[in-house]
Amino acid sequence: MISSSNGPRPIPLIGMGTASSKESGDQVTAGIIEAMKVGYRHFDTAAAYKTEKSLGEAIKEALRLGLIKSREELFITTKLWGNSAEGHLVLPAIKQSLRNLELDYVDLYLIHWPLKLTQEELKIPIPKECIFPINIKDVWEAMEECQNLGLTKSIGVSNFSPTRIQDILSFAKIPPAINQVEMNPLWQQKKLNEFCKKNGILLTGYSPLGAFGNAWGHNHVLECDVLKDIANSRGKTVAQVSLRWIYEQGVSFVVKSFNTERMKQNLDIFDWSLTEEELIKISQIPQQKYIYSSLMVAESNDVVTELDAELSFQ
Ligand code: A2P
Repeated sequence: MISSSNGPRPIPLIGMGTASSKESGDQVTAGIIEAMKVGYRHFDTAAAYKTEKSLGEAIKEALRLGLIKSREELFITTKLWGNSAEGHLVLPAIKQSLRNLELDYVDLYLIHWPLKLTQEELKIPIPKECIFPINIKDVWEAMEECQNLGLTKSIGVSNFSPTRIQDILSFAKIPPAINQVEMNPLWQQKKLNEFCKKNGILLTGYSPLGAFGNAWGHNHVLECDVLKDIANSRGKTVAQVSLRWIYEQGVSFVVKSFNTERMKQNLDIFDWSLTEEELIKISQIPQQKYIYSSLMVAESNDVVTELDAELSFQ
């Protein structure tokens, strides 16, 4: 468990991601049940992933099988998609997510990207004329209302730069508890982590292994020579070195595997630590961001270009 000083509830250090471009709904449900069996208690979904229903099914089944005694043992995160990123659409959106999940509340509700999309269901790649700037004050106030109504225990953001967080902090009655961003040894987020720590916000790293195998993913983390050398000399896997490094940055992360052995391996990072020399080697890895908002769109417009430039902040 790790706490955000802005959040009312500690978040488990390791969560299981459910953004998948490979698995069917039933496979996602089965994978989540398997993950509960090996010890995962934090599950990360989003309206956009279309895995909320599968997660809801898995929770029901886990209760039926006695894998968990009550829903309170779980930490469930979901996210507001851009087609509901308007003040009056936030409450209906979280209620829909809760219906999908068959839950009364989530533990964490995040604004998925600081972008507004037109309301209809859009297929990726999103046409540039459907993307607009977000009115963050209206949306954040509606997020606060979700927390005040008990529909979520805490609220936060995802893919937000320091400038945008500063903006929220200038008017928020409830500050963001979490900023969930791409983070791994190839995109270390040093400055963003420092900024968030100073403001009591906890970073959660997504794509800690580069999301290899997904449409938006890459193999550069798992194929990184520096990480391979460390893994070989310590008798660990590259994935464990990457996850251990993230953990040592004082942040939480969501990692995804639908394979039982790799699920276990990804939890098994707490009985060793990286040496000073290894940390220096990792800090010298050339930095490269891979996951941009422009990956989702047909052609960038000013809103997307500006956001991607902000997210390249190191
Ligand atoms: P699989 O489900 O077959 O294990 P990320 O968490 O960065 O999104 O990366 C997820 C991808 O990395 C998935 O394709 C997953 O595949 C793979 N993966 C997860 N854990 C490991 C591991 N320990 N070693 C190698 N690949 C892994």
